[in-house]
Amino acid sequence: MRLILLGGPGAGKGTQAQKLVDKYGIPQISTGDMLRAALREGTELGLEAKKYMDAGKLVPDEVVVGLIEERIKAGDCKDGFMLDGFPRTVGQADALKNVLDKMGIAIDHVISIEVPNDELVARLTGRRACRGCSSGYHVMFDPPKTEGVCDDCGGELYQRDDDNETTIRSRLNVYEEQTAPLIDYYKSAGLLRPIEGTGSIDEIFARITSVIG
Ligand code: AP5
Ligand code: MG
Repeated sequence: MRLILLGGPGAGKGTQAQKLVDKYGIPQISTGDMLRAALREGTELGLEAKKYMDAGKLVPDEVVVGLIEERIKAGDCKDGFMLDGFPRTVGQADALKNVLDKMGIAIDHVISIEVPNDELVARLTGRRACRGCSSGYHVMFDPPKTEGVCDDCGGELYQRDDDNETTIRSRLNVYEEQTAPLIDYYKSAGLLRPIEGTGSIDEIFARITSVIG
């Protein structure tokens, strides 16, 4: 199964992706995670991407398309994959289609997680992630058993640099202007599966699995 997870910043793409990995055994491919990993490794790509990420702007299409093209050709993607946070522009969606056409494969479902903006802001400002294993938490909505410590690996929890109010505002605008047009794009292609994204994490997961089977 090949999935795209679409949704605004904080909609729950990463949270649901972790659960989908457990259920379906297909890899999660998050361009945001890949760019943050490149930054941690101190590569030129990571340092360049940080300028865009800190400003809440999109990294240029050719950079992320290159990353994705290489990643989906890896052996662990042969039975399927889910794209989390890619594509984010019509240009990226067209490029993805070209790559997949050449490989003779196609996307099965585009899961569009719909959450109102004020809820997105509340989710992002309270989000925490583990430095060790990247597990996600929220200080109010999904707290770890011990404050600041990952339940899964005991690692230290941190707040992402782009989860501050100024950058969040910019990310929301960028989503409306550049990414939301993909909703119509995938609706026209017959692939859009809109999912009501408010409620508990498990309720939303149940809605997704009932749609994709
Ligand atoms: P990226 O890392 O993809 O960030 P994003 O799209 O802004 O999305 P988030 O990761 O912030 O949110 P999410 O939907 O994963 O939510 P989560 O599950 O964590 O991208 C970062 C940057 O990288 C971009 O700004 C851009 O610069 C660059 N970039 C990445 N991809 C790119 C691309 N393709 N092209 C160009 N540039 C790119 O949940 C959020 C919080 O809510 C958590 O705390 C969670 O615990 C909580 N939560 C989840 N579900 C619920 C629920 N049901 N109820 C209550 N709380 C919940
Ligand atoms: Mg994410």
